[in-house]
Amino acid sequence: MIRVLQTKTILLGVTGSIAAYKAATLASQLTQAGARVDVVMTREATQFIGALTFEALTHRYVATDVMALLPDSQIAHVAMAHRADLFLIAPATAHLLAKLAHGLADDAVSATALDTRAPLVIAPAMETGMWEHPATQANVATLVARGAVIVEPGIGQLASGASGRGRLADLDDIVDTVRAVLGRAGDLAQRKIVVTAGGTQEPLDPVRVLANRSSGKMGFALAAGARDRGARVTLIAGATSLRVPRGVEFVAAPTAREMRDAVLGAIGDADALVMAAAVADFRPAHTAEQKIKKEHAERLTLELVRNPDILQEVASRLPPADRRALLVIGFAAETQDLLAHARAKLKAKGLDLIVANPVPQSFGADIEAATLLTRDGAAMELSPLPKEELAEKVLDFVSAKLARHSLNENSTMARDTGSG
Ligand code: CTP
Repeated sequence: MIRVLQTKTILLGVTGSIAAYKAATLASQLTQAGARVDVVMTREATQFIGALTFEALTHRYVATDVMALLPDSQIAHVAMAHRADLFLIAPATAHLLAKLAHGLADDAVSATALDTRAPLVIAPAMETGMWEHPATQANVATLVARGAVIVEPGIGQLASGASGRGRLADLDDIVDTVRAVLGRAGDLAQRKIVVTAGGTQEPLDPVRVLANRSSGKMGFALAAGARDRGARVTLIAGATSLRVPRGVEFVAAPTAREMRDAVLGAIGDADALVMAAAVADFRPAHTAEQKIKKEHAERLTLELVRNPDILQEVASRLPPADRRALLVIGFAAETQDLLAHARAKLKAKGLDLIVANPVPQSFGADIEAATLLTRDGAAMELSPLPKEELAEKVLDFVSAKLARHSLNENSTMARDTGSG
């Protein structure tokens, strides 16, 4: 379940492109993530994929005709237009873009688009020539000027067999865009959150690294969750093979020292720093310029030196935790004495919150047990939950704390100016 999608009604418009079959996966993904999905199709779309497929996936009525009525005699596309929280058209053909730009309404999708006031997200799919044509580009520009968000088509194999730009965007990028648009006015709007993720890798030679088992899933879930609540997010990641979430600023920082520089560079105007990365505490004292060879050696001893402790350095540069504008959140990954070690780290690193979690079982897993410990001594023990939901709990803390800061600042200002 994705929090920003729960309780939301997403209207999915499907038009006549070969990519229409991919809309079934979109409908399924959005439904499984917790959204109510209404589907409206053009006649041409139904030639590529049946309405029944969408009905079976969403368990809801699918409109394929402007004249269609719901069982209670309401006009289907009007009722759907009015109850939508967001209108996603995927795939959108060149013809549909032209109709939307000019306000035509002779099919169920364009008629719904004209009537709804929900935010519009459009994922076009067509041949390269059609996409690049000035007429299409002008139509896209008109729609963007009216507030539509376009998920640009990608490059790849097209219906003609040729390869070029025009392929429906990656479905995960489309879902990310839907989430970001739905969350625009969320409780972290106007906030900047810096998140680190993944394990760092310290080079031994040009082909080998000293690494750890962190997958980066927790940090990526935090970054996506903060974006879904309206925050401006900088995601600083070590080694990870995860897809970069759309709508966040991404900085690759493979080593601890690169991560330190990236964090210090990003927190200047930030409201919160969440350090979910597994930073290597040590790095090889020397990085060999050439690949280390095994000849004539039965043993190899590596000399390691300490890496900077990023959180400690952040704490040393800022005022004490109770007087600083930046919230600082850390993670304690421990194999034993979890809570005692976590409390010690909370104090030593001057944190507002620490997420204590047992390792190695949580590395790479989708579900994680954790205890949240705050600076004022409160503890919240969470039974195993998906990393996305754990991320939301951490962000709930961030949001509540930042709201309280603002409230305090406002009341101080009101006192200083003698008002209120
Ligand atoms: N951390 C950091 N810089 C480091 C090491 C860790 O900023 N060089 C951060 C991590 O991102 C995490 C927190 O500190 O948020 C705790 O990390 P952890 O590895 O559990 O603890 P360490 O401080 O490295 O202590 P130890 O390895 O001795 O348990």
